Amino acid sequence: MSDPHRILLTGHKGYIGSVMAPILVNAGHDVVGYDTGYFSDCTLVPDGTTLPELQKDIRDVAPADLKGFDTVIHLAALSNDPIGNIDEGWTTDINHDATVRLAELAREAGVGRFLFSSSCIMYGMSDGGVVDETSPLDPQTEYARSKVKSEAELTTMASDSFSPVYIRNGTIYGVSPRMRFDTVLNNLVGAAYTSGTVKVLSDGKPWRPVLHVEDVCRSFMNIMDAPRQDIHNQAFNNGADHLNHQVIELAQMAVDAVPGATLEVLNEPSADQRTYKASFAKFARTFPDFEWKWTARTGAQDLSDTFEKVGLTAEQYSGKHFTRLKWLNHLLDENKLDRNLRWT
Ligand SMILES: NC(=O)c1ccc[n+]([C@@H]2O[C@H](COP(=O)([O-])OP(=O)(O)OC[C@H]3O[C@@H](n4cnc5c(N)ncnc54)[C@H](O)[C@@H]3O)[C@@H](O)[C@H]2O)c1
Repeated sequence: MSDPHRILLTGHKGYIGSVMAPILVNAGHDVVGYDTGYFSDCTLVPDGTTLPELQKDIRDVAPADLKGFDTVIHLAALSNDPIGNIDEGWTTDINHDATVRLAELAREAGVGRFLFSSSCIMYGMSDGGVVDETSPLDPQTEYARSKVKSEAELTTMASDSFSPVYIRNGTIYGVSPRMRFDTVLNNLVGAAYTSGTVKVLSDGKPWRPVLHVEDVCRSFMNIMDAPRQDIHNQAFNNGADHLNHQVIELAQMAVDAVPGATLEVLNEPSADQRTYKASFAKFARTFPDFEWKWTARTGAQDLSDTFEKVGLTAEQYSGKHFTRLKWLNHLLDENKLDRNLRWT
């Protein structure tokens, strides 16, 4: 086991965070969570880990919140494009401005490593080429721009004692206490399970890199433990080349995971045909011993088995609890959140 770290884990009550928290704790690390808890009531499977935590908005982060940590893992964010499209200001404030302030305070407090959860979405998806960490960035949405701008500012903060790392994830799937059905493979297996049919709107040819949430968490931990010279101020496409799949392959795996389910390829002219493949050569070169334990196929089967165990209903699948935008709209409609996404 690596030396224990004292970690501030932001976003610990979200999709990735609620899987990462127990993995870090079980590895012997001392973890404090920091989350405003937008999705605390959106739990599909029990969340067994209780962390010491700050229930607080990341926009209000203060110097005292960073005292005594050697590592920050920063997941807290509005986590997809559609939310950024309702009000760009929210995504700018939370994903960019608060990230920069958190990093500044972390650096002042003597935090050595700052792992930023970024996204391959920043490459854009225009021409279907293979993108690596040196490829031009072409962010198409406020969400993607927030990641690009944050990385750019964090880079200027890197110093002998402060090592930011930019972990550019593909689309993540797999079972989490705070499940999401608005990511591709979770969505496809959920459709297969609850309706018996998977409909692919496009021709199915677009490529996506997909990663299992547990592998993502182990990969973050691996980067946290790596020698400083390997990760200091570096961007990594997080994943492996064999984890790039065409949507049609993912849809077939979803169907195969659910007995009796069928596949329909609609090939609608208006469907999203954006496509990109990510190169994970830098990750493989830097961390030759890291093992990606899950494949999309084993992950799809595990999703289906879990849906069977919890008795997932069509209402749960398409309702508000497990689609980030729908749930935030619900909290706004109920006046639980105000127009600045703050609790009333
Ligand atoms: N899930 C994916 O496929 C994916 C892919 C690439 C990158 N990422 C990035 O990884 C991170 C985590 O993603 P996720 O899927 O777990 O998202 P999520 O929406 O499930 O979790 C985000 C968490 O951040 C918290 N949060 C949001 N705004 C906050 C604020 N103002 N103050 C305090 N807490 C706040 C939420 O309450 C939530 O618990 C995000 O930065 C996301 O952009 C995710």
